[in-house]
Amino acid sequence: MHKPEAHILTIFGASGDLTRRKLIPALYDLFLQGLLPDAFSVVGAGRKGYTDDSFREQMRAELEEQSPNLPGSSREKADEFTRCLFYVSLDTSDPAAYIALKQKLEKVRKERSIGGNLIFYLATPPSLYAPVALSLASQGLTREGDDWKRIIVEKPFGYDLTSSRELNQQLRSVFREDQLYRIDHYLGKETVQNILVTRFSNGIFEPIWNRNYVSHVEITASESLGVGERGGYYEGSGALRDMFQNHILQLVALVSMEPPVWAESNSIRNEMVKVLDSIRPLSREDIERDVIRGQYTASKVKGESMKGYREEEGVDPESRTETYVGLKFHIDNWRWKGVPFYARTGKRLPTRVTEIVVHFESTPHHIFCDTEGSSDRNQLIIRIQPDEGLLLKFGMKVPGAGYNVQNVNMDFHYSSLSDVYLPEAYERLLLDCMLGDSTLYARGDAVESAWRFVDPVLKYWQENPSGSLYGYPAGTWGPREADGLFREDGLTWRYPCRNLADDGQYCEL
Ligand code: BG6
Repeated sequence: MHKPEAHILTIFGASGDLTRRKLIPALYDLFLQGLLPDAFSVVGAGRKGYTDDSFREQMRAELEEQSPNLPGSSREKADEFTRCLFYVSLDTSDPAAYIALKQKLEKVRKERSIGGNLIFYLATPPSLYAPVALSLASQGLTREGDDWKRIIVEKPFGYDLTSSRELNQQLRSVFREDQLYRIDHYLGKETVQNILVTRFSNGIFEPIWNRNYVSHVEITASESLGVGERGGYYEGSGALRDMFQNHILQLVALVSMEPPVWAESNSIRNEMVKVLDSIRPLSREDIERDVIRGQYTASKVKGESMKGYREEEGVDPESRTETYVGLKFHIDNWRWKGVPFYARTGKRLPTRVTEIVVHFESTPHHIFCDTEGSSDRNQLIIRIQPDEGLLLKFGMKVPGAGYNVQNVNMDFHYSSLSDVYLPEAYERLLLDCMLGDSTLYARGDAVESAWRFVDPVLKYWQENPSGSLYGYPAGTWGPREADGLFREDGLTWRYPCRNLADDGQYCEL
């Protein structure tokens, strides 16, 4: 693997949670693996009045807390890494402050013999994305010569279709699309990338990956935690914006896209946009019938009292924000015509699981009578987290007289690889940006396409505030009404356990 070229990474919002919890530990791990350039520096920019030294100390303490057991880590290594950190205190919303940033970058560049390559990471509130980009441009910090300039933007990328278009336009007025890296951290997950490999490096799956053999596709992204301290943010977001518009639709795209010509950024992203554009828009009737929203209510889980969403800090006691959304939709193209897709995501569900289940059609004719309790529909389960792996369910003869069929599992767990190391999503994404590879970043048109699908639902909810919002007790699988999305007899959601292969029996949640 070649190393990225020398550059400075500027993080806006450097005194915030994301920098401390995710970015600095990810950079440190890259450093330990020898994947950072020899000439490299981080310039933190934020409101807090740190100096270079106090920023280093602060990040050093965080590393000890967040990454105490990283392979290869030592006191000396941590010292060496933190020496490449710098800080400039500035009010990000003040264009004049960028003169100080420019001076700081110049100083670090000279001191560390780094050329003009720059990455800007916006770990700030979204309202600052456009102002930061415009201020950088006003100081000439976005202009490329022999060097490159890139910008990484965190989600949420807009609030709806109109605002995401506006943001795209503003950013594109100072950066070209290929300089823009929009983070969807799900794309940085190893198991999400493995969807492409499972589909396109195995001859056995692709021929049956279509409407002739697949009966339906189910996607679950459940979380056991509530909104915690993020009530204020979540009130203005809800599950549809927070998880579905971005993470789940990216999973939908990867599982349903056509084979790309090459494993290369534009080839892959062209196919992703194409399939997102093919999702059938939901009409008013579809929304009323096929979109279920829920909100968790107070309950007791394993003897522990759990607050209801409306009792959480920063949440309106009369809030109608959804903490759960379950929906059914279709992809109108040659491959998927007529195959329903079901997706659900929610907070305070029984366990934290993200998985995709491809349900195959049943056998055309049943010749075995003794199939009690078993299904003749094969399922392929792609487990994104936890217990990352793949599981294929199929029918097998129970030894003994007659033809008694039972469902069994064939499973692969990443944990069974002896030298397993699943890097944090941010590590992979940061490194890819440094290398100029945007494959795992969301392209502007894909983000807009995802908003285009979600927008009518948001509008419907806004115009019909008293529309159904179902309560579900914290620690349960969401509103019962979501089971009604499956209108075919005997079909329902898979109820996953913490461990991939433990389903259908007593399991750990
Ligand atoms: C974030 C959402 O994008 O993804 C959070 O804002 C959510 O609300 C998180 O908890 C889930 O990510 P992961 O990687 O824990 O599945």
